[in-house]
Amino acid sequence: MSRLLKGKLFFLFAFLKVAFAQESADSFDWSTVPLNYSNPDDGTAALAVIKLNATVEASQYGGPIFFNPGGPGESAIDFALTSAGLMQAALGNQFDIIGFDPRGVRFSTPNISIFRTEEERAAWVAQETVDMNSTKEALPESWARYQAFGQLAQNRNDNNFLSFVSTDNVARDMLSMVKALGEEKLQYYGISYGTALGAVFSTMFPDRVGRVVLDGCLDMDGYFSNNMKFMTEDTDKAMQAFFDTCHSAGPEVCAFYDSSPSQIEANLEAIYDSLRKQPLPYVSGDSFGIVTYDLLRGLILLGLHTQDFFPIMAVMLAELSVGNVTTISQMLYLTYHAPLTHSMLIIVFIAKDRSINACI
Ligand SMILES: *[C@@H]1O[C@H](CO)[C@@H](O)[C@H](O)[C@H]1NC(C)=O
Ligand SMILES: *[C@@H]1O[C@H](CO)[C@@H](O)[C@H](O)[C@H]1NC(C)=O
Ligand SMILES: *[C@@H]1O[C@H](CO)[C@@H](O)[C@H](O)[C@H]1NC(C)=O
Ligand SMILES: *[C@@H]1O[C@H](CO)[C@@H](O)[C@H](O)[C@H]1NC(C)=O
Ligand SMILES: *[C@@H]1O[C@H](CO)[C@@H](O)[C@H](O)[C@H]1NC(C)=O
Repeated sequence: MSRLLKGKLFFLFAFLKVAFAQESADSFDWSTVPLNYSNPDDGTAALAVIKLNATVEASQYGGPIFFNPGGPGESAIDFALTSAGLMQAALGNQFDIIGFDPRGVRFSTPNISIFRTEEERAAWVAQETVDMNSTKEALPESWARYQAFGQLAQNRNDNNFLSFVSTDNVARDMLSMVKALGEEKLQYYGISYGTALGAVFSTMFPDRVGRVVLDGCLDMDGYFSNNMKFMTEDTDKAMQAFFDTCHSAGPEVCAFYDSSPSQIEANLEAIYDSLRKQPLPYVSGDSFGIVTYDLLRGLILLGLHTQDFFPIMAVMLAELSVGNVTTISQMLYLTYHAPLTHSMLIIVFIAKDRSINACI
């Protein structure tokens, strides 16, 4: 295992341990918010909530900080288990850190699941293409697939639940929780989709806004008009930053270094070309499969979320350029077997006390 990856893993697991130790089953339920705030007869939703207590005396208590890790389907419960301790370390131990799964997400109800079984989901996901330009068929097929997906979602919209799972209702739930804790105003930290939620809350309940951090802001107009092209607008710039910083960091620091940024780019293109012609098989413990062009594109897209991933990405690419799959197979194992893909990225950020500047 590479030293760098070992470092990241140690980092991750050390914090998992700390987080679990601190949280010791301190959680509570919020189990009867109305599905429809205008009509109590429409039934109720139950919110899964988890709290990391402040550790100061009552006189110094700073109140609760709610957070949303993005998605919109990311689970704040999962996120809290890995990173609530880190958030508190960054924000101050006078605050309770409160994560809740928005209605429809993970442990909260109604349970919205388009797929009936994990097998169904896995079969669907296995057909996903990252690079829509990889073949002539990739884009039109993807368009058609998501038309099927949308139709399936409508067909399986049990009890019309989808119409109640909306950001304005999540904002109302958040206000209910603020009130339940006896607070006048919301303190909040939102990442990515969490910035849309924070903005909607602030628009709906301006007199209830305390201190609110929106980190890694979505383009709100784009988000609410289903025009998500902003998600990839700066991807080429992030890729270029990898080439530039790898070059300026030098061969001691960047394992994928070469004589110029454009040479580094050419070396990456060479790896892509080679993988298209001949994907690389790997078997490493229980992890096995093939490293394909599309898979590498996907991993790099993920890595571009944070410069903190650049060093490990460089090691992975340097190895791949000589056909060595050691690091990439470990990354794939982590990415697809740990339910931590995004949380891992976020942990690295928060630990370094840096702001998140990409959409999660
Ligand atoms: C919520 O209730 C109101 C009042 O009965 C109704 O007009 C509205 O359509 C309901 N919302 C949904 C999403 O069903
Ligand atoms: C956290 O605080 C609550 C009161 O808000 C208390 O009931 C609970 O025992 C505390 N949990 C821990 C682990 O200290
Ligand atoms: C939600 O439904 C899915 C599919 O039916 C199921 O696999 C999952 O365990 C359910 N989740 C919860 C929290 O009940
Ligand atoms: C998509 O593929 C075509 C044909 O290979 C190529 O000419 C074009 O530059 C590609 N577009 C992008 C955005 O990569
Ligand atoms: C692949 O790279 C790793 C880490 O750099 C190294 O330990 C290993 O010996 C290499 N494998 C081969 C077959 O060269």
